[in-house]
Amino acid sequence: MKKNKIFNDLAYMKLVKNILENDEFTKRENFEHHINKSVYDHCLYVSYYSYKIAKKLHLDEKSAAIGGLLHDFYDEPWICNIEKKNFFEKHGFVHAKKSLLNSKKHFSNLIDKKVENIILRHMFPLNIIPPKYMESWIVSFVDKYTSLEIFLKPKYIPIYLGIKKGGKNER
Ligand SMILES: [Fe+2]
Ligand SMILES: [Fe+2]
Repeated sequence: MKKNKIFNDLAYMKLVKNILENDEFTKRENFEHHINKSVYDHCLYVSYYSYKIAKKLHLDEKSAAIGGLLHDFYDEPWICNIEKKNFFEKHGFVHAKKSLLNSKKHFSNLIDKKVENIILRHMFPLNIIPPKYMESWIVSFVDKYTSLEIFLKPKYIPIYLGIKKGGKNER
């Protein structure tokens, strides 16, 4: 799907415009997520597909849109994981918590119990506590589905999970 199609969906944009135009959030246009895709684009697609699914199922599409957009609102691109860290401090295990902290800092008015759960539990089953709401399951599933492109370059998988050291030169 083209990004413009998403930007032209006015009902969706009404829910997330403030996030998409936020200076801190737009910095993620320069964070590489997977092969040639920024964290910004990844989150936009996860948010939009989750929004569409939630709407179709007559669930809370607003929380799905917001939680989907903020689920990877962490501080540094995982590709730059060059610091030596304990296993459970690696990106795959801790970035959901960091994303929630950042979301509360920058968008406190948009974070309720459900959005919090969507962000915090999106890495299930790597983070063992399962999602609590249907909308959290949807975002977690859409995130995995849209991240399948990583399997096109399997050497990225251990870096993504934070099991292996990454770095700009490994591309
Ligand atoms: Fe994530
Ligand atoms: Fe993600």
